[in-house]
Formats: sequence, structure tokens, C-alpha cells
Amino acid sequence: MNNVFNRNPRNWHPLKGQPLTEMDKIILSFQNKGKLCPSRDLIKTPEQIEGIRKAGVLNTAVLDMVAENIRIGMSTEEINRLVHEFTVSHGGIPAPLNYEGFPKSVCVSRNDVVCHGIPSEDEFLEEGDIVNVDVTTILDGFYADASRMFIMGQTTPEKERLVKVAKECLEVGMEVCKPYTFVGDMGNAIAKHAHKNGFTVVRDLCGHGVGNKFHEQPDVEHYGKKGTGMLLVPGMVFTIEPMINMGDWEVVIDEEDGWTVYTEDYSPSAQWEHTFLMTETGLEILTH
Ligand code: MF3
Ligand code: CO
Ligand code: CO
Repeated sequence: MNNVFNRNPRNWHPLKGQPLTEMDKIILSFQNKGKLCPSRDLIKTPEQIEGIRKAGVLNTAVLDMVAENIRIGMSTEEINRLVHEFTVSHGGIPAPLNYEGFPKSVCVSRNDVVCHGIPSEDEFLEEGDIVNVDVTTILDGFYADASRMFIMGQTTPEKERLVKVAKECLEVGMEVCKPYTFVGDMGNAIAKHAHKNGFTVVRDLCGHGVGNKFHEQPDVEHYGKKGTGMLLVPGMVFTIEPMINMGDWEVVIDEEDGWTVYTEDYSPSAQWEHTFLMTETGLEILTH
């Protein structure tokens, strides 16, 4: 009997009745070595890429608008209102709203909130806060997803360094990602950079394929072993969004709201996110 449990699914199939393309040959050679390969539907068509690109442009405009308006003393609900109104008035839909029951149009995550912070009338931005605003926009059915950190006024040197290193982690991951590398190659580089700086990487949440839906394959883990995880090939669109903690990597989910993710040890956390297209030469940022 065959033991199939340790085997990766054979996702890649050449088109029936057509000669193998160069890309088929490369992917099949990895697949035959037992590597996890994408299914064909993860390779976006030129039309889909155009659609995601446009969603990316609007998503960036939303984040730029947030950057212009975010202020000490404002409620996180006010950010939600701004994001919602701006998005809708530009023909978009804020993807978080009602996504698996999420009640707001944007995630706002302060200090020890790692991600999925729910905007509230009763939560105010304070001097010294480090705040992640995570915006996902649907335009004509296509999705783009990105987040930035904002430092409110003056913060501590350690929190400032956390925000900076988290951004570097995204950049390091981006540089490693070339066609026919693996998600694990990137994750490995990101974790090394975080650890070298005395920080940790959240393991329970990851980046993801994106574009036709909010969350698609592959899982983009921000740690791991080289040569593991999915093979990355031209035409794939996915996020990288490392969550970097000042203390331990463990997180807990708020039992009452079922969404807010906190660091278990109350240490601050920082995250930056972009949506990327894999091209023949490397990653192109679609949420610049
Ligand atoms: N934007 C988040 C991500 O980067 C997902 C938020 S899900 C929500 O994947 F429901 F909280 F919006
Ligand atoms: Co996001
Ligand atoms: Co994302």
C-alpha cells in the first residue's frame, strides 16, 4: 500500500494536448523532487494582474490618506470612518468589512496588538504609540492588501527600532524572493534578520496569496527552512507581512471579540505588508 501522508500534493499539471513549456519543465522538475508547487489557478492572467494592479493603486491611496490624517488623540474608529468613506467614494469596497464576521473596514493594531485590531470609538491614539493600519481594497472584484506602521509623536528608542527592523524584514524577504525560490527561503531570511536584532517572528499568522480573493494559497510563513513551502513562480501574487515582536513570539486571541491578536507577554509588535507580483526577475510591489 502507498503511504501518501508525507507526500506533497501534485498541484501542477501541464495543459492537456500541448507541448510542455519551459515553465512546465522547470516546475515539473521541482514537483518530481517532492516540492510543493502552485496549482495553475495561482498564476494570474494578464487581465487579472491589471485588475490587482488597479486595486493596489487605490489601496495605496487609502494608506496615503491615512498617513495624512492620523493624529494623536483621534479614535481608531475615526480611522475606520476615513478609510471606509475614502474607499467607497473611489469606487472600491473595504475588504475587511464583514469578512468572516469582522465588523469594521480596516484593522488598527496598537503596541502589543499584533494584528486584527478592531477600530473603536473608545480607543484613542496616544503619544508614543506604534500603530499598524492594515488596509485591503476590493476594486472591480480584485484585491490588494498592505499595511504600514505609524509612530505617534515621540516613542522609545526600542519601539522605534522595532518598527524599523520590521520594515527591514519585509525588504529582506522581498530581496530573497526570485522566480523558482521557495517561501521557506524568504521566511528563513526574515527570521534571521529579526533574530539578529534581538526580536522574534510571530508564527501563528502568515502572509498569503491574494488577488482574486482576500486569502489564497500559498501560506507565506515568515520563518522556516530553506527549500520548504511553496515554489514561487512568475505570475503569482501574494503578500509578505512579517509580524515582529520585541519579546516572545507567542500570541493570544482576545476571547471576547474573537479577532484581536495580542502578544502573550504584552511586548510591542510591529508589521509592514505589501502585495507583490512575481515577475521573471523578482518581485514587483503592487501596493507602492
Ligand atoms: N489584512 C489582513 C491580512 O493582511 C487580514 C485582515 S482580516 C480582517 O491578511 F478580517 F481582520 F480584516
Ligand atoms: Co493586510
Ligand atoms: Co495580508
